Order: sequence, then structure tokens, then C-alpha cells
Amino acid sequence: MKIAMIGSGYVGLVSGACFADFGHDVVCIDKDPAKITALDAGVMPIFEPGLAELVSSNVRGGRLSFTTDLPSGIAGASAIFIAVGTPSRRGDGHADLSFVHAVARELGEHIGPSVVVVTKSTVPVGSGDEVERIIAAAKPGIQCAVASNPEFLREGAAIADFKRPDRIVIGTDEEWARGVMREVYRPLFLNRAPILFTSRRSAELIKYAANAFLATKITFINEMADLCEKVGADIQDVSRGIGLDGRIGGKFLHAGPGYGGSCFPKDTLALLKTAEDYDSPTRIVEAVVKVNESRKRAMGRKVIDAIGGAGAVRSKKVALLGLTFKPNTDDMRDAPSITIAQTLIDAGVEVSAYDPEGMALAAPMMPGVVMAKSAYDAAEGADAVVIVTEWDAFRALDLERIKGIARAAVLVDLRNVYDPADMREAGFAYVSIGRG
Ligand code: UGA
Repeated sequence: MKIAMIGSGYVGLVSGACFADFGHDVVCIDKDPAKITALDAGVMPIFEPGLAELVSSNVRGGRLSFTTDLPSGIAGASAIFIAVGTPSRRGDGHADLSFVHAVARELGEHIGPSVVVVTKSTVPVGSGDEVERIIAAAKPGIQCAVASNPEFLREGAAIADFKRPDRIVIGTDEEWARGVMREVYRPLFLNRAPILFTSRRSAELIKYAANAFLATKITFINEMADLCEKVGADIQDVSRGIGLDGRIGGKFLHAGPGYGGSCFPKDTLALLKTAEDYDSPTRIVEAVVKVNESRKRAMGRKVIDAIGGAGAVRSKKVALLGLTFKPNTDDMRDAPSITIAQTLIDAGVEVSAYDPEGMALAAPMMPGVVMAKSAYDAAEGADAVVIVTEWDAFRALDLERIKGIARAAVLVDLRNVYDPADMREAGFAYVSIGRG
């Protein structure tokens, strides 16, 4: 089956490469000639473990190619995926659909009959109706279905998530389009991945509801962590103790500095806008957004407290380890590290930082932060070392070496990577999350 993937960003590229790996014939299309030239040369626009190898083996196998030319890219395709960006619109938090609509207009000019157009981009409820309207206005009477197929890929684990999904959601009421989509995902039947067929609007909402629920789970456990610190309980035990209840589930109960990334912050805001538009308030999600925002600044203040409080920060230095919003990505979007660094700088603290993959993108976002060559380079002369993102490389730091080069043996562990007793034994003043 021939598949066209419009948009060769994170979602489009991972999905396109995985479909090709299943044996489909895939063309990835992107407006950006520099991106396509780089992809043709085997250079990935993003850091994602395993992606470069997957792309190159499928290009070599003749199943994956790249082009800037939409009409030739979609020719003969049975399914055309739209995987372009839907950033938060400046000012109001609504998802910006201008890229999706521009693609729909171009498709309207060039699309042939019996094709399923599939939105993979995260789009608010009702967006599929508009895509359908735009195409139908350009090609009246054409047999073409517009389906919704949200993605549930985590950055850093996207290929595994694509190949072994918990579920595949397909939103369309057209039986023939369901047949095409069954064929697209047939290689996953062997893995017994459940396919859920729903209406288009339900599929669109499933995506937002899933992300909002996960953001809520994280925010809930973060508030429990704060309470643990006050009452002298241990959040690791509380998470495990509630997570073993099958109705709650143990995942996404890891307390930390607040969620970030390209999805939860943007999608929770967009869901609030939809709720407002339909006059159906989602107060829990409203609270989640507010609590998460203030948490990032609170983390900055937690670090300040660890180095003696606001009155004692002059000429003090803090080393931040890990800047990306989570490990195994170079993505800096809405990373808690940005707010934490700013809170420290505003208070007059000198900040150095190191991240295994994120520094190129982080540097322009954090003027005033000195980017170091390694974790130890960053820790040189520091009054506190702060683990902001739990990269594997920070799980077994040479603590003796840090004690030797830092000004004070203070470790603030915002991801609870270390054991408090071990750290005490190592001679560190150790501050973590929710372990009173
Ligand atoms: C998230 C969802 O997990 C994916 O299912 C979804 O497809 C994706 O958004 C999307 O909408 O495209 P992602 O943003 O890549 O994926 O990352 P997550 O692993 O979900 O982490 C998000 C944030 O929550 C990170 O800042 C992470 O550190 C934080 N987090 C996660 C916690 O603080 N605690 C946890 O227990 C889990």
C-alpha cells in the first residue's frame, strides 16, 4: 500500500519510517527544502533513539523517500496522513490550525478519488469537519474520507510506542475508510494491538482527554509530594502504594519538577479553550495547568533554599544537570529547566548547566546560563548541583569527584534518582522531592 505523510517533523517522520518498516511504500513530504535535503543525506532533524537507523534501512530498502512536491508525493496513495504542527496560537492558547488548513487546501487541488485523508496532527474537536469541508469545496462530489488517527508516541520512546501501541484509535464513520485503515495497521494485528473505531469527534477528543488525564496524574502526585514533605511521608512509597491498585495504575506517578514538553502544556491549554468555546468548563484541567505553572518557579525557590535562602544567594553558583523536558530527547519546549534557571538568575544566582543532547537548543533560550562541557565541568565551584532531568548519565555520578570540585556538597535531586540514605552516607546535604 502506498502512504503519503505530509509533514516530516517528529510525528510524521517517526510514523512514516515505521509504516515503511512494516513494508508499506511511504513518501514523506515537507515544505522545508533544507529538511528534505538533510533527510536525503541521512541527517535527522530531531534526536530520537533508533530513528536514523530506521530511516536509512528503509530508504535503502526502497520503501521510504522524501520530497517537497506534494502533488507527486500523494499520487497513487491510498492513505494521506496530515502530520504538520499545531502549535499554541500566540495570545489565546487555541491550537493554531493554519498549517493543517493550508495542507487541506493543497490536497483539495491535487487529491484523487477513494483516498482516506487522516489527521495525525493533534487537532481540536471538529477540525476534521473543516478539513473535509475545504477538500469538498475544491473537489465537489469526490469520494474521499477524512479520518482522525491520533498518535500516542512519547518522545525518546517513539519507535517502540509506534510498533507496540496500547491501542490504535481510528475516527471515521465510513466503512470503506475503516477498511483502508485496517490495511494500514494490519502489520500490528500480529501484536494484537487493539484497534478502536470511533466517530471522528470522539477520536479527536480521545487524544486531548488522554494527555489531560496524564498531566492530571502527574500534577496530583506532585501535590502529594509537597504534602509528604510537610507531614514527613515518602512520595516514592505513596506512589507505589496507590499505583499497585489496578484502578489507579503505577505509571505517570513519578513526582518531579512539573511536566513540560511539546504536548501536555499545549494540549491542556487547547482543551481548556475547547471547553470554553462549548461552555462546558473543565475545572480540574484548569487547576492542573495553574498548579504545574507555579510548580516550576517553586522548584527554583527550592534550590535557592538549599543554598541558604534568598538572603544568601549573592556570588553563589548552581549547576543544573539536564535541561531537556525529559531524557532521550533534545526537545526544550516548555522544559521546567527554563523557568528554574530564570528564577535562579532573577534571584542573583550564577548558573552553569550541562545536558547530553539539549544544549544547542537550550543555549539561546537561557541567556545568562553558562553551558558546560560535562556534568563535572558544570559542578566546578558550585554551591549546589541540581538534577533537573533524569538522563541515565546522571544516575551514577562520581560523588567523590563532585565533592572535590564543588564549593559545597549539596545535591538537589528534582527527579528522586538517588537514595537519601546513600547520599547522607556520601556526605551530601541532599534535597529531593516529597521525601520529608
Ligand atoms: C506525551 C504522552 O505521554 C504521549 O502519549 C503523547 O503521544 C505525547 O505526549 C503527544 O501528545 O504527542 P511526551 O510529551 O513525549 O509524551 O512525554 P512524557 O513521557 O509523557 O512526559 C511528559 C512530561 O511529564 C515530562 O516533562 C516528564 O518529565 C513528565 N512526567 C512524566 C513526570 O513528571 N512524571 C511522570 O510520572 C511522567
